[in-house]
Amino acid sequence: MRGSVKYKKIMIPALAAGLVLLLAAVSAWAGGGQSPVKSLDELLQRYDSKRCQECHSEIYEQWSRSHHARSLMGLNGFSFMSKYLRKGPLAVKKPQEATLANFPCAKCHLPQLMNAEPQVAKELAEVVWRDDKAVVSRLNISCLVCHQDKAVVHHHPEPGVLYGPENLPEHEGQVKAVKRSAFMSSPAFCGQCHGMGPNFEFTPPVQCATLYGSYLHAYVADGGACTCLDCHMSGTDHTFPPDFSDQNATAKLYRAALPMQVEVLPYTFHPGHKQNAPQVVVGVNIQNRAGHRIPDG
Ligand code: HEC
Ligand code: HEC
Ligand code: HEC
Ligand code: HEC
Ligand code: HEC
Repeated sequence: MRGSVKYKKIMIPALAAGLVLLLAAVSAWAGGGQSPVKSLDELLQRYDSKRCQECHSEIYEQWSRSHHARSLMGLNGFSFMSKYLRKGPLAVKKPQEATLANFPCAKCHLPQLMNAEPQVAKELAEVVWRDDKAVVSRLNISCLVCHQDKAVVHHHPEPGVLYGPENLPEHEGQVKAVKRSAFMSSPAFCGQCHGMGPNFEFTPPVQCATLYGSYLHAYVADGGACTCLDCHMSGTDHTFPPDFSDQNATAKLYRAALPMQVEVLPYTFHPGHKQNAPQVVVGVNIQNRAGHRIPDG
């Protein structure tokens, strides 16, 4: 009896110490080893791609033309979250009521929000509510989202480390080391956001992109051997076309992606002596050269 009391006495402080360590570790892992952001301003600063612009100017310029650089904006500067916050299952009566639960879309459109303190959701809701495009356009899938937060699996990103194609013991930027991440070149890296189907972890579940599911179940299952990077990132290109705001370039890409062959056989059918029925046989063959269905969704 006495033994078990002593056991409890040791266990409770041990459990408490474990919990403190675990919480410390979780907060240290969040956002590349830093504590969770406390304000929207801090979120903007920490993930600002301008920190990388000076030395990686070409990649920065390519990235800034990509949809990743405006991941909360639809076409023509439309801030799509404003609609969802006002009407439907994610709606709130006023922005101050918003919590992180109102932003399941951030899982893929702004993953850094998932590591933020709850009050950041209220600040974001206010910005979205008043349609402050200047701020919304700075909330995006930045260099650090891909090269830090989303770059590794099975463990959290190490504090003060960037991930890339090779190990670099020294790196000139603010982040001093670059480690190799083999995961970054795999299709699953892109699949984290490019979706497999409904996201059942949310109430209600949300579904948006499902392209990675199509890649796995249609393309790879059918013997396709290219990765997303093979087709979408020739060299180090960070533009990730198609850019849907550029209609001419997009039309050109889709004409090349979906080659179409049409065969037409016109003839005249004579069912009776005085009857002429013009007929036509049209054969259409559309091929899909992409590694997945298009369009997605
Ligand atoms: C599983 C990840 C994921 C979730 C969750 C998600 N999206 Fe998306 N969404 C994407 C990806 C990836 C694209 C672009 C590629 C595509 O459509 O295949 C996209 C595209 C879009 C577009 C088109 C963008 C444009 O440029 O016109 C809109 C609008 C959109 N999502 C809104 C939402 C909203 C609203 C939610 C929450 C209700 C949401 N998404 C949740 C991954 C996601
Ligand atoms: C959507 C995810 C994504 C974003 C956003 C992103 N990158 Fe990358 N980046 C990649 C991937 C994937 C690779 C290739 C990794 C590989 O080949 O293993 C890469 C490669 C690189 C490389 C190595 C190029 C080489 O020489 O091989 C550099 C440098 C780089 N990125 C810098 C940046 C900078 C700077 C930004 C922001 C302006 C940025 N990236 C934004 C995914 C991203
Ligand atoms: C002061 C200059 C400087 C800044 C700022 C800087 N970098 Fe670099 N970075 C370099 C140099 C130099 C290399 C070496 C090789 C090269 O790409 O030519 C490099 C290499 C890389 C690589 C490739 C490593 C590999 O595996 O081959 C990645 C990824 C990268 N940087 C990402 C970033 C990101 C993300 C930022 C912003 C957070 C950033 N860098 C800021 C100078 C800088
Ligand atoms: C952190 C989540 C995330 C990762 C990782 C990611 N993407 Fe995206 N990607 C998105 C979202 C969200 C959009 C749509 C942004 C918008 O327009 O609202 C998008 C847009 C695109 C587009 C432009 C077409 C479109 O439908 O908007 C391409 C192409 C693309 N991604 C390819 C890739 C590839 C290839 C990789 C892997 C190297 C990758 N992405 C990694 C989230 C991600
Ligand atoms: C065999 C080559 C190939 C592979 C593999 C491939 N894609 Fe594509 N993808 C294309 C082509 C071609 C298009 C049409 C537009 C273009 O040419 O850029 C396209 C279009 C897209 C689009 C726009 C979809 C839309 O709704 O119009 C996204 C997003 C995208 N790919 C992401 C990915 C991701 C993520 C992967 C890996 C899971 C991947 N792709 C694998 C060739 C490929």
